[in-house]
Amino acid sequence: MIENHIHFGDTIEFMKTLPDKCANLIIADPPYNIDKDFGPGTIFTDNDTWIAWSRNWLNEAKRVLHPKGNIFVYAIHNNVCYLQCLMLEMGFEYRRQIIWYYENGWSKYKNGPACHYEPLLWFSKSTTSTYITIREPYKSTERLKHKITKNGKIWTPHPEGKQAGDVWHFPTLSGRRFAKERLEHPTQKPLSITNRIVAHFSNVGDVVLVPFAGSGTECFAASQLGRRYLGAEINPAYYAIAVKRLDESMAK
Ligand SMILES: C[S@@+](CC[C@H](N)C(=O)[O-])C[C@H]1O[C@@H](n2cnc3c(N)ncnc32)[C@H](O)[C@@H]1O
Repeated sequence: MIENHIHFGDTIEFMKTLPDKCANLIIADPPYNIDKDFGPGTIFTDNDTWIAWSRNWLNEAKRVLHPKGNIFVYAIHNNVCYLQCLMLEMGFEYRRQIIWYYENGWSKYKNGPACHYEPLLWFSKSTTSTYITIREPYKSTERLKHKITKNGKIWTPHPEGKQAGDVWHFPTLSGRRFAKERLEHPTQKPLSITNRIVAHFSNVGDVVLVPFAGSGTECFAASQLGRRYLGAEINPAYYAIAVKRLDESMAK
Protein backbone atom coordinates (compact mmCIF):
# COMPACT_ATOMS: atom_id res chain seq x y z
CA MET A 1 0.00 0.00 0.00
CA ILE A 2 1.63 3.24 -1.18
CA GLU A 3 0.51 6.12 1.02
CA ASN A 4 0.10 9.73 -0.11
CA HIS A 5 -0.34 8.56 -3.65
CA ILE A 6 -3.13 8.65 -6.26
CA HIS A 7 -3.50 5.51 -8.32
CA PHE A 8 -4.22 6.03 -12.01
CA GLY A 9 -6.91 3.52 -12.99
CA ASP A 10 -10.08 1.81 -11.87
CA THR A 11 -11.02 2.26 -8.24
CA ILE A 12 -12.35 -1.27 -7.65
CA GLU A 13 -9.16 -2.82 -9.00
CA PHE A 14 -7.20 -0.41 -6.81
CA MET A 15 -9.18 -1.12 -3.66
CA LYS A 16 -8.70 -4.86 -4.18
CA THR A 17 -4.96 -4.31 -3.64
CA LEU A 18 -5.51 -2.71 -0.21
CA PRO A 19 -5.38 -4.66 3.07
CA ASP A 20 -8.50 -5.20 5.19
CA LYS A 21 -9.42 -2.41 7.66
CA CYS A 22 -6.66 -0.05 6.43
CA ALA A 23 -8.81 3.10 5.97
CA ASN A 24 -9.93 5.23 8.91
CA LEU A 25 -12.03 7.51 6.75
CA ILE A 26 -13.43 7.02 3.24
CA ILE A 27 -14.74 10.03 1.33
CA ALA A 28 -16.45 8.85 -1.84
CA ASP A 29 -17.75 11.24 -4.46
CA PRO A 30 -18.78 8.77 -7.17
CA PRO A 31 -20.45 9.40 -10.54
CA TYR A 32 -24.12 10.07 -9.73
CA ASN A 33 -25.44 8.44 -12.89
CA ILE A 34 -27.01 11.67 -14.16
CA ASP A 35 -25.39 11.75 -17.60
CA LYS A 36 -22.19 13.52 -16.45
CA ASP A 37 -19.46 12.28 -18.75
CA PHE A 38 -16.19 11.79 -16.87
CA GLY A 39 -14.73 9.78 -19.76
CA PRO A 40 -14.33 6.09 -20.65
CA GLY A 41 -15.23 3.63 -17.91
CA THR A 42 -17.45 6.10 -16.04
CA ILE A 43 -20.74 6.08 -17.96
CA PHE A 44 -23.63 3.75 -17.14
CA THR A 45 -26.17 2.50 -19.66
CA ASP A 46 -28.99 2.15 -17.12
CA ASN A 47 -29.83 2.41 -13.45
CA ASP A 48 -29.41 -1.31 -12.73
CA THR A 49 -25.86 -1.29 -14.10
CA TRP A 50 -25.01 1.70 -11.93
CA ILE A 51 -26.52 0.07 -8.82
CA ALA A 52 -24.61 -3.19 -9.46
CA TRP A 53 -21.39 -1.22 -9.91
CA SER A 54 -22.11 0.81 -6.74
CA ARG A 55 -22.53 -2.45 -4.81
CA ASN A 56 -19.15 -3.64 -6.08
CA TRP A 57 -17.16 -0.60 -5.00
CA LEU A 58 -19.07 -0.36 -1.70
CA ASN A 59 -18.18 -4.00 -0.99
CA GLU A 60 -14.50 -3.19 -1.28
CA ALA A 61 -14.99 -0.01 0.75
CA LYS A 62 -16.57 -2.05 3.53
CA ARG A 63 -13.72 -4.54 3.55
CA VAL A 64 -11.03 -1.84 3.83
CA LEU A 65 -12.88 0.38 6.33
CA HIS A 66 -11.47 0.21 9.85
CA PRO A 67 -13.97 -0.95 12.55
CA LYS A 68 -13.81 2.56 14.10
CA GLY A 69 -13.79 4.29 10.72
CA ASN A 70 -16.31 6.47 8.89
CA ILE A 71 -17.49 6.53 5.31
CA PHE A 72 -19.05 9.54 3.57
CA VAL A 73 -20.76 9.15 0.22
CA TYR A 74 -21.90 12.15 -1.81
CA ALA A 75 -25.16 11.61 -3.69
CA ILE A 76 -27.93 13.47 -5.43
CA HIS A 77 -31.59 13.81 -4.49
CA ASN A 78 -32.98 11.63 -7.27
CA ASN A 79 -30.89 8.54 -6.56
CA VAL A 80 -29.55 8.83 -2.99
CA CYS A 81 -32.25 6.31 -1.97
CA TYR A 82 -30.51 3.51 -3.91
CA LEU A 83 -27.16 4.12 -2.24
CA GLN A 84 -28.69 4.47 1.21
CA CYS A 85 -30.62 1.18 0.83
CA LEU A 86 -27.55 -0.58 -0.55
CA MET A 87 -25.45 0.52 2.41
CA LEU A 88 -28.11 -0.53 4.91
CA GLU A 89 -28.48 -3.91 3.21
CA MET A 90 -24.74 -4.39 3.23
CA GLY A 91 -24.59 -3.92 7.00
CA PHE A 92 -23.03 -0.48 7.24
CA GLU A 93 -24.14 1.41 10.37
CA TYR A 94 -26.36 4.37 9.40
CA ARG A 95 -25.29 7.60 11.11
CA ARG A 96 -26.90 10.49 9.25
CA GLN A 97 -28.00 11.88 5.97
CA ILE A 98 -26.23 15.23 6.08
CA ILE A 99 -27.74 17.94 3.93
CA TRP A 100 -25.17 20.10 2.17
CA TYR A 101 -27.14 23.30 1.57
CA TYR A 102 -25.97 26.00 -0.84
CA GLU A 103 -27.47 29.37 -1.85
CA ASN A 104 -26.85 29.16 -5.57
CA GLY A 105 -29.23 26.45 -6.72
CA TRP A 106 -29.32 24.72 -10.08
CA SER A 107 -32.18 23.47 -12.16
CA LYS A 108 -32.17 20.62 -14.62
CA TYR A 109 -35.95 20.44 -14.79
CA LYS A 110 -37.78 23.64 -15.68
CA ASN A 111 -41.11 22.57 -14.13
CA GLY A 112 -39.92 22.21 -10.54
CA PRO A 113 -38.05 24.11 -7.86
CA ALA A 114 -34.32 24.69 -8.20
CA CYS A 115 -32.10 22.32 -6.25
CA HIS A 116 -30.24 23.84 -3.30
CA TYR A 117 -28.80 20.81 -1.57
CA GLU A 118 -26.89 17.60 -1.94
CA PRO A 119 -27.41 14.67 0.41
CA LEU A 120 -24.21 13.39 1.96
CA LEU A 121 -24.46 9.94 3.53
CA TRP A 122 -22.51 9.25 6.69
CA PHE A 123 -22.16 5.58 7.63
CA SER A 124 -19.67 3.69 9.78
CA LYS A 125 -19.21 0.17 11.14
CA SER A 126 -20.13 1.07 14.72
CA THR A 127 -21.62 4.01 16.62
CA THR A 128 -18.27 4.55 18.35
CA SER A 129 -16.47 5.67 15.20
CA THR A 130 -14.28 8.78 15.35
CA TYR A 131 -16.23 12.01 15.80
CA ILE A 132 -14.68 15.27 16.98
CA THR A 133 -17.51 17.65 17.87
CA ILE A 134 -18.21 20.32 15.28
CA ARG A 135 -18.91 23.73 16.74
CA GLU A 136 -20.21 26.87 15.05
CA PRO A 137 -20.55 30.45 16.34
CA TYR A 138 -23.73 31.21 18.29
CA LYS A 139 -26.25 33.15 16.24
CA SER A 140 -26.76 35.94 18.72
CA THR A 141 -23.74 37.24 20.59
CA GLU A 142 -25.92 39.96 22.14
CA ARG A 143 -27.94 37.33 24.05
CA LEU A 144 -24.74 35.82 25.47
CA LYS A 145 -23.85 39.08 27.25
CA HIS A 146 -26.60 38.43 29.79
CA LYS A 147 -27.03 35.65 32.33
CA ILE A 148 -29.07 32.84 30.75
CA THR A 149 -31.05 30.38 32.82
CA LYS A 150 -32.22 27.06 31.37
CA ASN A 151 -34.44 24.70 33.40
CA GLY A 152 -33.64 26.69 36.53
CA LYS A 153 -29.87 26.43 36.09
CA ILE A 154 -27.41 29.04 34.87
CA TRP A 155 -26.30 28.13 31.37
CA THR A 156 -22.77 28.96 30.28
CA PRO A 157 -22.13 29.17 26.54
CA HIS A 158 -19.40 26.94 25.12
CA PRO A 159 -16.33 29.07 24.26
CA GLU A 160 -16.12 27.46 20.81
CA GLY A 161 -19.80 27.89 19.95
CA LYS A 162 -22.85 25.68 19.59
CA GLN A 163 -22.82 22.10 18.32
CA ALA A 164 -23.34 22.04 14.57
CA GLY A 165 -26.42 20.34 13.18
CA ASP A 166 -26.81 18.07 10.19
CA VAL A 167 -27.60 20.81 7.66
CA TRP A 168 -24.27 22.16 6.56
CA HIS A 169 -24.08 25.51 4.80
CA PHE A 170 -21.13 25.74 2.46
CA PRO A 171 -21.05 27.62 -0.85
CA THR A 172 -20.29 25.78 -4.08
CA LEU A 173 -17.26 26.90 -6.03
CA SER A 174 -19.17 28.99 -8.55
CA GLY A 175 -18.54 32.71 -8.92
CA ARG A 176 -15.50 34.91 -8.87
CA ARG A 177 -14.69 34.56 -5.19
CA PHE A 178 -13.60 30.94 -5.70
CA ALA A 179 -11.63 31.51 -8.90
CA LYS A 180 -8.36 30.65 -7.16
CA GLU A 181 -9.65 27.36 -5.74
CA ARG A 182 -11.37 26.21 -8.93
CA LEU A 183 -9.68 23.68 -11.22
CA GLU A 184 -10.62 22.12 -14.57
CA HIS A 185 -13.00 19.53 -13.16
CA PRO A 186 -16.80 19.64 -13.68
CA THR A 187 -17.78 18.50 -10.16
CA GLN A 188 -14.97 19.72 -7.93
CA LYS A 189 -16.04 19.81 -4.27
CA PRO A 190 -15.19 22.83 -2.09
CA LEU A 191 -12.37 22.54 0.43
CA SER A 192 -14.63 24.11 3.07
CA ILE A 193 -16.94 21.08 3.37
CA THR A 194 -14.12 18.61 2.73
CA ASN A 195 -12.00 20.05 5.54
CA ARG A 196 -14.93 19.64 7.92
CA ILE A 197 -15.27 15.95 7.08
CA VAL A 198 -11.55 15.26 7.41
CA ALA A 199 -11.02 17.31 10.58
CA HIS A 200 -14.03 15.96 12.50
CA PHE A 201 -14.34 12.35 11.36
CA SER A 202 -10.68 11.27 11.44
CA ASN A 203 -7.63 11.87 13.61
CA VAL A 204 -4.21 13.27 12.71
CA GLY A 205 -2.09 10.48 11.19
CA ASP A 206 -5.15 8.47 10.01
CA VAL A 207 -5.51 7.03 6.51
CA VAL A 208 -8.12 8.70 4.28
CA LEU A 209 -9.21 6.70 1.24
CA VAL A 210 -10.59 8.65 -1.73
CA PRO A 211 -11.99 6.17 -4.28
CA PHE A 212 -12.92 8.90 -6.84
CA ALA A 213 -10.17 11.46 -6.60
CA GLY A 214 -11.27 13.83 -9.39
CA SER A 215 -9.25 17.03 -9.02
CA GLY A 216 -7.78 15.74 -5.74
CA THR A 217 -9.84 17.82 -3.28
CA GLU A 218 -10.22 15.15 -0.60
CA CYS A 219 -6.59 13.96 -0.91
CA PHE A 220 -5.41 17.57 -0.68
CA ALA A 221 -7.52 18.24 2.44
CA ALA A 222 -6.24 15.04 4.06
CA SER A 223 -2.65 16.00 3.35
CA GLN A 224 -3.08 19.59 4.60
CA LEU A 225 -4.67 18.33 7.82
CA GLY A 226 -1.92 15.85 8.65
CA ARG A 227 -3.64 12.66 7.49
CA ARG A 228 -2.30 10.11 5.00
CA TYR A 229 -4.25 9.59 1.78
CA LEU A 230 -4.89 6.88 -0.80
CA GLY A 231 -6.69 7.89 -3.99
CA ALA A 232 -7.77 6.53 -7.37
CA GLU A 233 -8.78 8.34 -10.56
CA ILE A 234 -9.53 6.78 -13.94
CA ASN A 235 -9.59 9.86 -16.19
CA PRO A 236 -6.05 10.83 -17.28
CA ALA A 237 -6.80 14.58 -17.45
CA TYR A 238 -8.25 14.68 -13.91
CA TYR A 239 -5.52 12.40 -12.62
CA ALA A 240 -2.93 14.88 -13.93
CA ILE A 241 -4.74 17.82 -12.27
CA ALA A 242 -4.91 16.00 -8.93
CA VAL A 243 -1.25 14.95 -8.99
CA LYS A 244 -0.14 18.48 -9.88
CA ARG A 245 -2.28 19.91 -7.07
CA LEU A 246 -0.78 17.54 -4.51
CA ASP A 247 2.79 18.00 -5.81
CA GLU A 248 2.50 21.79 -5.71
CA SER A 249 1.17 21.71 -2.15
CA MET A 250 4.14 19.60 -1.08
CA ALA A 251 6.58 22.05 -2.70
CA LYS A 252 5.19 25.00 -0.65
C1 LIG B 1 -17.74 13.38 -8.82
S1 LIG B 1 -16.12 13.28 -9.39
C2 LIG B 1 -15.10 13.53 -7.96
C3 LIG B 1 -14.70 14.98 -7.78
C4 LIG B 1 -13.83 15.23 -6.56
N1 LIG B 1 -14.60 15.12 -5.34
C5 LIG B 1 -13.21 16.61 -6.64
O1 LIG B 1 -13.45 17.44 -5.75
O2 LIG B 1 -12.53 16.88 -7.62
C6 LIG B 1 -15.95 11.58 -9.70
C7 LIG B 1 -14.62 11.19 -10.27
O3 LIG B 1 -14.54 9.77 -10.29
C8 LIG B 1 -13.82 9.38 -11.43
N2 LIG B 1 -14.19 7.97 -11.70
C9 LIG B 1 -15.35 7.52 -12.23
N3 LIG B 1 -15.33 6.17 -12.30
C10 LIG B 1 -14.14 5.77 -11.78
C11 LIG B 1 -13.54 4.50 -11.58
N4 LIG B 1 -14.17 3.37 -11.93
N5 LIG B 1 -12.33 4.45 -11.02
C12 LIG B 1 -11.67 5.60 -10.67
N6 LIG B 1 -12.18 6.83 -10.85
C13 LIG B 1 -13.41 6.93 -11.39
C14 LIG B 1 -14.27 10.37 -12.51
O4 LIG B 1 -13.34 10.45 -13.57
C15 LIG B 1 -14.40 11.67 -11.71
O5 LIG B 1 -13.23 12.46 -11.79
